[in-house]
This record gives sequence, C-alpha cells and structure tokens, in this order.
Amino acid sequence: MSSTTRARIRVLADAVADQIAAGEVVERPASAVKELVENAIDAGATRVRISIEHGGKTLIEVSDDGSGMDREDAVLALERHATSKISAAADLVGVSTFGFRGEALPAIASVSRFTLLTAEADAIATEVRVTGGRVDHVGDAARQRGTTVTIRGLFFNTPARRKFLRSVGSETRAVGEAVMTLALAHPAVGFELIADGTTRLGIPPAQGASERLASVWGRELAGTLIPLQFAAGAFALEGFVQRPADARPTGRRAQLFVNGRPFRDHFLVRAAEAGYRSAIAPGDRPSLFLDVRLSPGDVDVNVHPAKLEVRFRDRIGLERTIEDAVRHALGELVASASVGDWRPMPGEAARPVWDPRGGEQRPLQTGAERAGIPGRDLFDPLGQPAGQPPAEEARFGAALHHLFDTYICFESPEGLVMVDQHSAHERVLYEQVMEQLQQGGAPSQRMLLPITLELNDEELDAVEVHRDALSRVGFEVEPFGGRSVILHAVPAPHPRFDAERCFREMIADLSGGRFAGWANRLERFAATYACRAAVTGGAPLGEREMRELLHRLFRTSLPPHDVHGRATIVQLSREELERRFGRR
Ligand SMILES: Nc1ncnc2c1ncn2[C@@H]1O[C@H](COP(=O)(O)OP(=O)(O)OP(=O)(O)O)[C@@H](O)[C@H]1O
Ligand SMILES: [Mg+2]
Repeated sequence: MSSTTRARIRVLADAVADQIAAGEVVERPASAVKELVENAIDAGATRVRISIEHGGKTLIEVSDDGSGMDREDAVLALERHATSKISAAADLVGVSTFGFRGEALPAIASVSRFTLLTAEADAIATEVRVTGGRVDHVGDAARQRGTTVTIRGLFFNTPARRKFLRSVGSETRAVGEAVMTLALAHPAVGFELIADGTTRLGIPPAQGASERLASVWGRELAGTLIPLQFAAGAFALEGFVQRPADARPTGRRAQLFVNGRPFRDHFLVRAAEAGYRSAIAPGDRPSLFLDVRLSPGDVDVNVHPAKLEVRFRDRIGLERTIEDAVRHALGELVASASVGDWRPMPGEAARPVWDPRGGEQRPLQTGAERAGIPGRDLFDPLGQPAGQPPAEEARFGAALHHLFDTYICFESPEGLVMVDQHSAHERVLYEQVMEQLQQGGAPSQRMLLPITLELNDEELDAVEVHRDALSRVGFEVEPFGGRSVILHAVPAPHPRFDAERCFREMIADLSGGRFAGWANRLERFAATYACRAAVTGGAPLGEREMRELLHRLFRTSLPPHDVHGRATIVQLSREELERRFGRR
C-alpha cells in the first residue's frame, strides 16, 4: 500500500468548520433570529426590533439598543469561539447569559451575506461586512449606541441546506414563535417583529410576567390560566396552568423555562398533564407556562447545539414535583371532576352525546348532522354500499353479543371470537383512506355553516403540509388570516362522525409526536384519520352495524392489529376452552 493512498486526518479549514457548526446552530431563519435576539438581550437591550422578508430567506435584520461593541470586539466577535461571556469551562456551570460558545455570529456569517453595524455610547460606529465567512470590509459608519445585524441570502452558499427551508408562511411562523418565546422569557424587553413590511408583533417593554403573557398569547387564552406556585426539595416552580374546563385537544401553548431560560421537554409537559388526572378528557391538551427554579449546578444547559434542550440532574424528582405542583394549583377543581364528564364546548354542542343504553341509539347531534347529513347507521354512508349476501353473514354465527358496548363477540368454527370495535373500524377506514389517497378524492359534505378554527403554529404547519391529503379524504380547509382556518367541507365516513373534533385531533396528532415514527407520510396521515374517525369503544352499535363492521373487517388485508399495534381480534379457541374446563 503506498502512503499516498492513506487517508489522513486533516484539520478543517476554518471556513468549513464554521459551515458545519452553522448546520447545528442555524437550521432555519428562526434559529438565526433566536441567536441574534439572545445576543441583543445579553448586551442589555431594552428594545429589540426584528425585520424579515420572505420568511427570513432573503432578509433578517435584528437591531438593539444594547451596549454595542468597539471596533476590536466587532471584528473579534466574528471569530470562532470568541465570546465575552465565559473564559473557562468552569464558567459554564451557572452561566446566566444566553450565549457562551462564541459560535453563533461566525456560524451565521459563514452561510450568508452578513453585515454587523455596531456602536458603543458616543463612539464612532463600526461596520463589518462578511460574505460566506470572508471579511470584505471593516470601516467607520454612523449609528447610535447598539447593534444591527443584517443577514441576506441565508444559506446562499450551502444549497443543500437552503433546499430544506419550508414555505414563506411556515418560516415566518417559526420566526414568530421564536420571538414569542424570547418575549415570554424577558418581560422587561420590548419586541417588534416586522414580516414583509407588516408588523406581526408589537410587545411593549417593561411589562410584568402575567401582563407579558397576555400580550404574547392573547388575552383570551391568558384569561383561562390560573397561577401556580410550588416548592419541594431542590425545586421551586412558578407559572400558570389552564383551567381544566378550558383545555382542548388543539391550540395548546406550552412553555417551559429553567431559571428563566426557555427550553423544550416533552416529558415534563406530560408530567404537568398527569397533574390534571381525570379532570380533562384524554385527548385534551392544557396550556401551561412553567418556570423551574433550581440551583444552577443541578442543570446542564450546554447539551443541545441550539440550546433548545437542557439536562437535569434529578429529572425523576422534577417530573414528580411538576405533577404535584399542577395538582396543587388546580386544587379542588381536580378532586370534583371525573372521566367522561360531558361538558359542552362554549356555544356549541358538537361533541356527540349518547342516549343512555337501550335500543338503536343515535347521538343527539353528530358532526355529520351538523354538516347537514341526516342520521344513518354506521355503514350506509357515502362509502361503498355494503350489499353483502346473507349467506356471508352466517360466517359470524347466528348470534352476536355486544360486550361493554366495545367488543363484538360471536362463535366461529374455531371458537369464541372477540373483536374490538374501535380498532376494527380503524382498520376498515385505514384501508379505505389509503385507497382514496392513492386514487383521488372521497366524497365530502359541504358544511351549511363553515367551521372556523383557531390553531397554533405547529398545527398550521401540519395543515399546510397535509393540505392535499386532507382534501383527498374530504376536508376542504382554507387559511383565514392569522391563525384561523375555515373548514368548508368535511368527510362523512359514518353519521356518528364528529368532523370538527376529528379534524382537531388529527391535526394535533400530525403536528405532535403521536405518529412521528411513521416514515411514509400518506400512511401516517391515513392512520391518523382512521384512528380519529373510527367509532370509539363504549359506543352502542346496532346489530346491523356490527354485522357490517365484521363483514368489512374480514375483507381488509391488514394484519390482525390496529395502527398502533394493539390487537383487533382475540380468539378463544375450542381447545383452549376444553382445556380450561378440564375436558382435555
Ligand atoms: N447585539 C450585540 N451587542 C453587543 N455585543 C454583541 C452582540 N452580538 C454579539 N456580541 C458580542 O459578540 C460575541 C460573539 O457573539 P456570538 O453570538 O457569536 O457568541 P456568544 O453569544 O458569546 O455565544 P453563543 O455562540 O453561545 O451565542 C458575544 O460574546 C458578544 O460579546
Ligand atoms: Mg450569542
């Protein structure tokens, strides 16, 4: 082997290293905005103005009235690992500034056309211009105290990365979300966000925490929150949680902070939800705002490239404390509520209400009826007509028994068969929807009264991403300015179908983690739809509906479990029965 073919370890050129770092620190315009605003806040700004064009793809500009930099620092700031905030690794413990790596500015400058304009009080300003990491110009300029960073053509020299940017609407929303989070963390600082010339956020400086919450999340949502204050062991918690009666399956906002620093943690949000116990329906997602205070040595903030996650020394203890704190804040409210309490949404009765047991039941009002579709039973809807020969019914035995309004039981030549009605229906719908998605549209029903829904940013993204699939199954959705969408038409897979609820839950699933592991987007969509549209356990079914459901189930080609891997069919074989009764 000749030595010339041997691979060698090479120290990367700085420019390449910066571009790699940029990939971790700056993923999209919103992450650049986050870094720049954090720098502004670290510099003691009282007002920060953010302006973007085309979702930040063409322009991002962040101006502050903070300390500014002198010329030497302005040039130094663009060098990798140049930071004024820490000088030794030990300083990382308990670091109180947002920045500490000295990585953000050089990383951003390496993948954009970058201008830094900065001035200390009563000093001549400095302008530094950088193109793709190369400093082109350093010179005098005019500016009052503070700093303006302008980024044009983000990722102009890394097309692979540029390709991953989402639509303008989606990137704009992500920037808005990032600014809102920072605004919540810093009630004293004023924020202004301008997108394509329009003011999207105008948040005045010097607000108190709850005042700030109302300006950022809106008075309406803020009005449904109650304060929380709790301390146990090493943790002190402060914040707000939503009243159980106001929790909904979608539109939730959840914001966590540790010692004032925003972070994300799905499991801690879950812990807070656990504190609601049975006070909310299983699909409801309460809004919450929690600041965890603990000794800085008990949390590591340097575990995520974009500082979005943190690590706790005692996370089990923290989860337990959060759950206790929520329960404590809700107090009496939780003790008195129970699962299955039906409570109408304000101003409507869209959720199905079931008559008490007996006979062929009908919901008082279903989504389908609300959409102007007269009540029918589960299977004579807009789907294919059933039309099965009577002989085939014999296959399911003469007698069907409905156990707990959830399991359909019958005798087969092999033994006793029990079918879970929800998972069976889910399988049937899943196949049907996959077919519709591949072959084109399903019939839908126009709403007599279109439904307007208020969604959060992730949900709006989910609607945008799945717009085509939604319309293929029959949901005709139209954006309606701000965070609202209008549902003009909905599918009607069966008359007990509550279109609005199904839509909300689907969007929540698609935007959350529930089906995130599904690689194929259409399959994921179909599974979400099937799960949400299927008749639930506990719903009384008529005999005809049960027979038809079985009939369709046994014509599907899916494996004998539902989309979540739970069993659809359980059999008790003749042999098993005989063994149990000692006949064998
Ligand atoms: N808006 C600003 N006003 C004043 N000084 C700034 C501003 N932005 C950056 N600086 C200075 O430039 C340095 C480099 O900023 P940069 O964001 O790259 O690193 P950092 O904030 O120290 O760490 P991190 O990479 O974790 O953000 C900062 O340490 C700070 O001294
Ligand atoms: Mg920084």
